[in-house]
Amino acid sequence: MGFSSSSSISVLLISSLLLGSYYCSVSEAQTTPPLVKGLSWTYYKSSCPDLESIVRKQLKKVFKNDIGQAAGLLRLHFHDCFVQGCDGSVLLDGSASGPSEKDAPPNLSLRAEAFEIINDLRSRVHKECGQVVSCSDITALAARDSVFLSGGPDYNVPLGRRDGLSFATRNETLANLPAPSSNATTILNSLATKNLDATDVVALSGGHTIGISHCTSFTERLYPTQDSSMDKTFAKNLKVICPVLNSTNTTVLDLRSPDLFDNKYYVDLMNRQGLFTSDQDLYTDKRTRSIVTSFAVNQTLFFEKFVLSMIKMSQLSVLTGTQGEIRANCSVKNSASVDLWSVVDEEEESKAVF
Ligand code: HEM
Repeated sequence: MGFSSSSSISVLLISSLLLGSYYCSVSEAQTTPPLVKGLSWTYYKSSCPDLESIVRKQLKKVFKNDIGQAAGLLRLHFHDCFVQGCDGSVLLDGSASGPSEKDAPPNLSLRAEAFEIINDLRSRVHKECGQVVSCSDITALAARDSVFLSGGPDYNVPLGRRDGLSFATRNETLANLPAPSSNATTILNSLATKNLDATDVVALSGGHTIGISHCTSFTERLYPTQDSSMDKTFAKNLKVICPVLNSTNTTVLDLRSPDLFDNKYYVDLMNRQGLFTSDQDLYTDKRTRSIVTSFAVNQTLFFEKFVLSMIKMSQLSVLTGTQGEIRANCSVKNSASVDLWSVVDEEEESKAVF
């Protein structure tokens, strides 16, 4: 897709000159966000010391074959954390009693392979250490490794999450995952309910530096009328990929470096080449524009803020201690087998009494 590099450079230069004030306020070194009670940086130190190397080694192999899977795993962790907290609830299959979180509209475009990769990592980890590591922790580590192995920053992940016993309803899922058609006000308000501020919103949206989208997530910006905040050449090229409103094709989220975790997503926004309204409006809106620019001109700053925001996101409403469980299979809660045991126990007890 074509874009004018000279105009993008001049936009960058002007903006970096105008940026002074915001840049100073966001560049101040910040400490790591506080750990939620029950999580720790060394949680599996004695129970599963090789956990992180097992996950990283396996994901290196997976990504060597298909780097696109990194984007799928990063998005999976985001969808897990935003709905009912990072409790692995998004991983659960539906049952006869009803559809799962996975079946709710925003989750239908999660990659099927992402769920398989998590289950495979779980079985590798449990083979080595026993059933001690939660599926939600494995998902958080897989997201971290997806960022790092795609060229992004490496960082430590607080561990000790437990897996949830239930999943959210369709309505709860829809209410917690903002739509790509949302403007900056909606996104800022939605993330504020999770104690995420404007810098977190802009930094986390930088997850769109890797991965793909289906046409249906943005074609309302093209038809019937073209969104005036979209670069004309970019729109023209998107219309080729998505010729009608409900085209089934996909396209990359970051046209400059689709598989690389870098700050080019913000350069895209400055050139009005953001795919979703929720992306582009971060540059249109006065409250977030200078943050976008600061990340576009300074990748180190973006990486620093992204890590802080990811650590915050990864601790949303986590279950710890004796809450929840460590699932034996990430797609099903353990209670099926627990229920069987309790039936046996009751039978034994009734024999003893009578
Ligand atoms: C702020 C609100 C957000 C909205 C509205 C949003 C929306 C979307 C949509 C609509 C897609 C494409 C789905 C499809 O059509 O296939 C997508 C993909 C993606 N999102 Fe987001 N997202 C948001 C935040 C995030 C965050 C916080 C992250 C991670 C830190 C993230 C990471 C990703 C990734 C990596 C993909 C590509 C997935 C793949 O290639 O399989 N998103 N997002």
